[in-house]
Amino acid sequence: MADYLSTWKSEPTYFDESAGKKLPEDGKRNVLITAALPYVNNVPHLGNIIGCVLSGDVFSRYCKIVGHNSIYIGGTDEYGTATEMKALKEGKTPQEICEQFYHLHKQIYEWFNIEFDNFGRTSTANQTEIAQDIFKKLHLNDRYVSGTCPLCKYEDARGDQCDKCGKLIDAIDLIEPKCHICSERPVVKSSNHVFLDLKQLSPMVEEFINQVTSAENSHWSSNAIAISKSWIKSGLEKRCITRDLKWGTPVPLEGFEDKVFYVWYDAPIGYLSITKTLLGDDWTKWWKNPDNVDLYQFIGKDNVAFHAVVFPSCELGTGDKYTMVKHLCATEYLNYENQKFSKSRGTGVFGDTVSDLGIPADIWRFYLLYMRPENQDTTFSWDDFMAKVSK
Ligand code: MF3
Ligand code: ZN
Repeated sequence: MADYLSTWKSEPTYFDESAGKKLPEDGKRNVLITAALPYVNNVPHLGNIIGCVLSGDVFSRYCKIVGHNSIYIGGTDEYGTATEMKALKEGKTPQEICEQFYHLHKQIYEWFNIEFDNFGRTSTANQTEIAQDIFKKLHLNDRYVSGTCPLCKYEDARGDQCDKCGKLIDAIDLIEPKCHICSERPVVKSSNHVFLDLKQLSPMVEEFINQVTSAENSHWSSNAIAISKSWIKSGLEKRCITRDLKWGTPVPLEGFEDKVFYVWYDAPIGYLSITKTLLGDDWTKWWKNPDNVDLYQFIGKDNVAFHAVVFPSCELGTGDKYTMVKHLCATEYLNYENQKFSKSRGTGVFGDTVSDLGIPADIWRFYLLYMRPENQDTTFSWDDFMAKVSK
């Protein structure tokens, strides 16, 4: 088979590096495209490739062909337990693991001719800056919080200032803080850990989901709609967003010096910080421009809740006007010969060896797109692959 297929010629890898700074333009359709950021410690397999990066790439190429003003953002999700564990196992530092695997991911996607405008990573200063900014706004969003003044004990003090004694106060010092609008607890509550109070944010996020999924000019895949609606239906609970780890974005709060953000609070912020790494302060022209930018996110179904519910809650909770997901394209799973892909069990085709098989990238791209698991799980099988790509 390899012989037959090696007569195909592979296109050279093409990266449009001359494009310069691409920013939203008036009068153009401005399209912001993201592919889920894979954990850095895994070697991507064919299922990961069709699940997000290749699907997003095809859409990004389409946008460019039809003349939309689009950028395509990807990268590696580098923080958290998985990276720390891998580092321990290999006797390396988390930084070393990230360095090694980031380049491996990048090479693999380049081999598949995936044309990102930026393929970045989450372990950067930009990530810390944006994650902490969002956190501080969630935490101290005094427009939403009121409670008892710690100084004069006036019961209806605002989060920033007490109307009775006039003293400036810090929202976290309020006694019995409550939401100004619904009287429930504030968005983020700190104890030994910090919790994101999704319960309090749920009316806002529910409205967002209902509105975006019923709008005519937006589209969520049916699994994305089903999963997010079932989350809303079963009721949102507060979720812990800090962890006792070292390798992560530091929590900017006194007493939390030994903690970092939970990787799932942190990861979606990677899209923003990777855009900042590409464009500098102009990143906000894409990400804080909801009226002029359409955001398309390509993910696997296991990532729906975070893209549809948790991250939008964070965006809404800041009170800032973020560009929020308008098109959520979630794939089902691709299996391998009726099993799951598994690096440890050696089942599957993995990105680091696929280039050794002598089969050009376009053949893979064609077959993976043909088998794209849109409505149900599909299976990669060598027999079917042969049948579909042979003349
Ligand atoms: N690393 C996660 C996974 O592989 C996905 C993160 S997607 C992001 O499941 F949006 F959070 F970045
Ligand atoms: Zn409220």
